[in-house]
Amino acid sequence: MKEKFYITTAIAYTSKKPHIGNTYEVILTDAIARYKRMRGYDVYFLTGTDEHGQKIQEAAESTGITPKEYVDKVAGEVKAIWDTFGATYDRFIRTTDDDHVAAVQGIFRKLYEQGDIYKGSYEGLYCTPCESFWTPSQLVDGKCPECGREVIKTSEEAYFLRLSKYADQLMKHIEENPDFIVPEMRKNEMVNNFLKPGLQDLCVSRSSFSWGVPVDFDDGHVIYVWVDALSNYITALGYTVDGCSEKYKKLWPADVHVVGKDIVRFHTIYWPIILLALGEPLPKKVLGHPWLLSGTDKMSKSRGNVLYGDDLAKQFGVDVIRYYLLSEMGFTDDGTITYENIIKTTNADLANVLGNLVNRTAAMIKQYFGGVIPEASEKNSDDDELFEQIDKYFAKALASFDEYKVADALKSVLEIFKCCNKYIDVTTPWVLAKDPEMKERLGSVMHNLVDGILRGAKLMLPIIPESAKGIFKIYGVDVPEEFSDDICFSGNVIDEVPILFARIDEKKMLSELMPKEDKKAEKKEKKAEEKAQKKAEKKEEEAPSEIEIGDFMKVKLTVGEILECEKVEKSDKLLKLLVDIGTEKRQVVSGIAKFYEPNALIGKKIVLVSNLKPAKLRGVDSNGMILCSGEEDVRIVEIASDVPNGTGIR
Ligand code: MSP
Repeated sequence: MKEKFYITTAIAYTSKKPHIGNTYEVILTDAIARYKRMRGYDVYFLTGTDEHGQKIQEAAESTGITPKEYVDKVAGEVKAIWDTFGATYDRFIRTTDDDHVAAVQGIFRKLYEQGDIYKGSYEGLYCTPCESFWTPSQLVDGKCPECGREVIKTSEEAYFLRLSKYADQLMKHIEENPDFIVPEMRKNEMVNNFLKPGLQDLCVSRSSFSWGVPVDFDDGHVIYVWVDALSNYITALGYTVDGCSEKYKKLWPADVHVVGKDIVRFHTIYWPIILLALGEPLPKKVLGHPWLLSGTDKMSKSRGNVLYGDDLAKQFGVDVIRYYLLSEMGFTDDGTITYENIIKTTNADLANVLGNLVNRTAAMIKQYFGGVIPEASEKNSDDDELFEQIDKYFAKALASFDEYKVADALKSVLEIFKCCNKYIDVTTPWVLAKDPEMKERLGSVMHNLVDGILRGAKLMLPIIPESAKGIFKIYGVDVPEEFSDDICFSGNVIDEVPILFARIDEKKMLSELMPKEDKKAEKKEKKAEEKAQKKAEKKEEEAPSEIEIGDFMKVKLTVGEILECEKVEKSDKLLKLLVDIGTEKRQVVSGIAKFYEPNALIGKKIVLVSNLKPAKLRGVDSNGMILCSGEEDVRIVEIASDVPNGTGIR
């Protein structure tokens, strides 16, 4: 029998349409769910919407419709976006679902009857948007510590959950299960900022508004939205205090709750305490992922920088966005999304490395073997080297996936395709094709390439499912259900070779995507940057003759590899480069156009000042500075080619 794997996302608020940051979480969870299925697990994937609370009641009132009409509309939008991105969830729970509402009322009643919830009165400072009470000492500059908005003084009769009673038990659990909260930094935040200072009992009911799950034994009170929302993870499976379904018995505890870093507190303190009080097991893991920023800023409507998944899917395609988000978002550090970066990543990874390889290989088999994939003959050392590398990166990718480090897994998968591209360069099929005696060897090379591509494509199935399926289709192979499935392809016929990922024309795409006002603002920005650059150059000339070691240590120097390079338009001085610094790919603008042809720089290992404040040069983002020598005859500082990208320099 297959081992079960139960995975959940946070349930999205239905106060407004979810943005691409919320969507990232669902894509991440979906990639893990798909991966686990391919590892042979019986996966249950839960997602849904969080539909109660004052904010939603107010949003509905302001548009003149009932809260239920309002949440029906937004929940529909949420589900449509999740579906667009191919989320393979098993249930989409809504906290207005009847079974959920009844089960939450039961939970509240049970905790009250056993004394873990008690009635008291609350006098405090309330933040409506966050739906949280604060004590005066928790405020920051008199405002809500979470969102920085005004709080209002309120006093109400309310129910409280005895958090303090379970604090020691929870602390012990966290200490004994070091992988309960990941990444570790999130665990440290919880322990140091919340558990160690001591937990105060939590107010778990509201009476100032009515859009919530009613406390069924006390009219006028509704259950605090977080108690309602967190319970979804068990009510969705059929948990009730009067008895549980078979599904619940099979699936609970969850293997992992995937949530954003801002709500780790709710999932690692309040939720475990509710479960301890109910006498139910705790989830095995809470994964607090970082945030996706719009450029360098938090996404917010007031800043006008919110991007939505449905728009992006139309503009770029579902798999391009899935790939971008999963490769961009690391395990701990926030990631960023801009149109420019999506285009860069697509061109560098999907078009140049993957698409090109798949299409080139298929085209060669058509040209040299009439489309019939040949058998392999005996392997030589080039072949052994290829498969050794592929096996290494395949194992690395699985290990990263197992730790839910999806961006790391992706990096390893890309290496597999890069190895295949290198294999083409080494084996030079076009030379073999000229010699009839080398026909068998040429056949082997083609066979090995298809083998390598399909191994990589297996690992791409959880990431870019539709495109990866397309790769299997090109080579006439059924899509494997598990990683361990054997793949037979010798003798299969390739007829059509569709372009898997086309290169995006950056200039054309950006001019289509960016409204005119943005362009005006950009021009203004350009002028300001030029001024700032001149100022910086002047400052540089005035550098002191001696500095402290501490001054030098502030400069972070990192080894990088130039992946792409092109001239900055309308500038005879500037080159725009894409540099791989191990943890990420950086766009850098450098004033070396007069000294280097762009192509001559590709593949060079350089030194990057990697903690230089980002700047815009001629409207192009530059995130670092490449070290160079000289003023008249400028040369880049080069590093030996075997030093890994990302190595620090002192
Ligand atoms: N309704 C609560 C969750 C209740 S779970 C029992 C909530 N909803 S939310 O709509 O605000 O957020 C849904 C998820 O999206 C959360 O995990 C949140 O951390 C995540 N994100 C919100 N903004 C995000 C980014 N900019 N980037 C990545 N994830 C983001 O919180």
